[in-house]
Amino acid sequence: MANLITLFMLWLSMISAIYNVKLIAHGSIEGGSTRFYDFKVQTKRDTKLCNSKDIITVNGMFPGPVVYAQEDDRIIVKVTNKTPFNVTIHWHGIRQKLSCWYDGPSLITQCPIQSGQSFTYNFSVVQQKGTFFWHAHVSWLRGTVHGAMIVYPKAGVPYPFKFPYQEHVIILGEYWLQDLQEIENATLASGGPPPKADAYTINGHPGPNYNCSANDVYQIDVIPGKTYLLRLINAGLNTENFFVIANHNLTIVEADAEYTKPFTTDTVMIGPGQTLGVLVSANQPVGKYSMAVAPYESGKVVIYQNVSAIAGFNYIGAPSDSLSLPAKLPKLDDEMAVKTVMDGLRSLNQVNVFKEIDKYLFITIGLNVQKCHSKTPKQNCQVMHNGVLAASMNNITFVNPNISILEAYYKKIKGTYTEDFPDTPPKFYDFVNGAPNNIPYDTQSLNGTRIKVLKYGSRVQLILQDTGIVNTENHPMHFHGHSFYVVGYGTGNYNPLTAQFNLVDPPYMNTIGVPTGGWAAIRFVADNPGVWFLHCHIDIHKSWGLGMVFIVNNGKGELESLPHPPPDLPQC
Ligand code: C2O
Repeated sequence: MANLITLFMLWLSMISAIYNVKLIAHGSIEGGSTRFYDFKVQTKRDTKLCNSKDIITVNGMFPGPVVYAQEDDRIIVKVTNKTPFNVTIHWHGIRQKLSCWYDGPSLITQCPIQSGQSFTYNFSVVQQKGTFFWHAHVSWLRGTVHGAMIVYPKAGVPYPFKFPYQEHVIILGEYWLQDLQEIENATLASGGPPPKADAYTINGHPGPNYNCSANDVYQIDVIPGKTYLLRLINAGLNTENFFVIANHNLTIVEADAEYTKPFTTDTVMIGPGQTLGVLVSANQPVGKYSMAVAPYESGKVVIYQNVSAIAGFNYIGAPSDSLSLPAKLPKLDDEMAVKTVMDGLRSLNQVNVFKEIDKYLFITIGLNVQKCHSKTPKQNCQVMHNGVLAASMNNITFVNPNISILEAYYKKIKGTYTEDFPDTPPKFYDFVNGAPNNIPYDTQSLNGTRIKVLKYGSRVQLILQDTGIVNTENHPMHFHGHSFYVVGYGTGNYNPLTAQFNLVDPPYMNTIGVPTGGWAAIRFVADNPGVWFLHCHIDIHKSWGLGMVFIVNNGKGELESLPHPPPDLPQC
């Protein structure tokens, strides 16, 4: 027995020695430091709204642990799956330069980590800093498996704004009393929409407006006269949100982890997948003020939870029994409030976006109704005239493959995807006000795992056009592996003759809320070889197929090729 233990110890020390050498080798390339994290994905009993249930967490925390790093650091996270479900983790907003294997979307860049298995993510944060987050990227696990990721500037590099007295992470979420996996399965089986969330949460706390939640309130204490940096992250599944603080202005200084020209407003809208850095000065009379989160109800036929989550912004010195001043929320479908913030988002510095385009793409985004193929339509086809809700891009409903697209591409395995994602929709019509086939009788889309191949280095312009086939709605479209310039946006159908573009100081983002019944124009350089998902960050829309995949080919130069896969890459 003693011998066995010695052997085991010896083995352990050998393993860790090998591990360390590898890390030193990595470290020497970048010169940044290496940050290690250990994520155990596990179930935990959670009580909220007088209801107890098991939720999936990382390390038993909801929201999960914050990952801290500095620009150019390497981050190594060993993820062990102690749940019965498949797991992957995505590092949202990290561009994963030459590290596509660690991006995380299930069946796009990797097979999921199966129950009892682990996978070590290993990537560096090349020339990026700001507010990011990480989240599960398989089924609806993101609902509770998410956390902040904060990347500070390099030592000695200041913020481009006055150094805040303190900073706080504010993660918005959605909470259901019922088990999330059950909700997801039941929703997809029904063919209809998901139930609304039972509550919104702020750092996991719903605040006093819901049943049985009077004492479940997130609070921050502030000192009169000081300025605070709030790092807002929307990790919610299916709802875009307004965020306001009673009587206080918010000055946006960062969006999607890129600095912006300071823009001051009283209300921000933040969709799932978006992050904002806002400065708040405690410059009001000493007291208690509410921070409120409400839905942005852009979809007319969607049923939203419309009770707000509330947190406290409490001045030190306010009497402990004083009431919190309520926040004034915009109208829940206030397009103007959304547009004001969009108009205000400008890159901090002049950027001079490229003007020559190698690839023009025009992609419609929206919902569809598909015909019922079930023998029990009452149970499985619950929308309009026995239909099934779906979603599409250029009328293609994205279907998950059986193995990861990246692996299939790398190993040249046939039959996983086709390379025929179209550059334009199948027909042009009045996308916003009309439908091609007379809704609601035939608004079919085609099912497929179609991808678009881009040559290394191509300069791409992509117009995203919302459709009104089922319902116009604001879609937070998220792109992996790249950031893009949002050079234009507007309402109605995109018209190249009248569209106004900002090529001087557009924001550089990874998630764009395409206006309700409108369009957005983005530009990016396809300079990161690999397989990259572009999808709506509203999970139900993603489940319905609102996504597509780009393959960016290898370039010819040094550091322009996708590296080999890591040895511990999960198997399907
Ligand atoms: Cu934050 Cu593909 O997602």
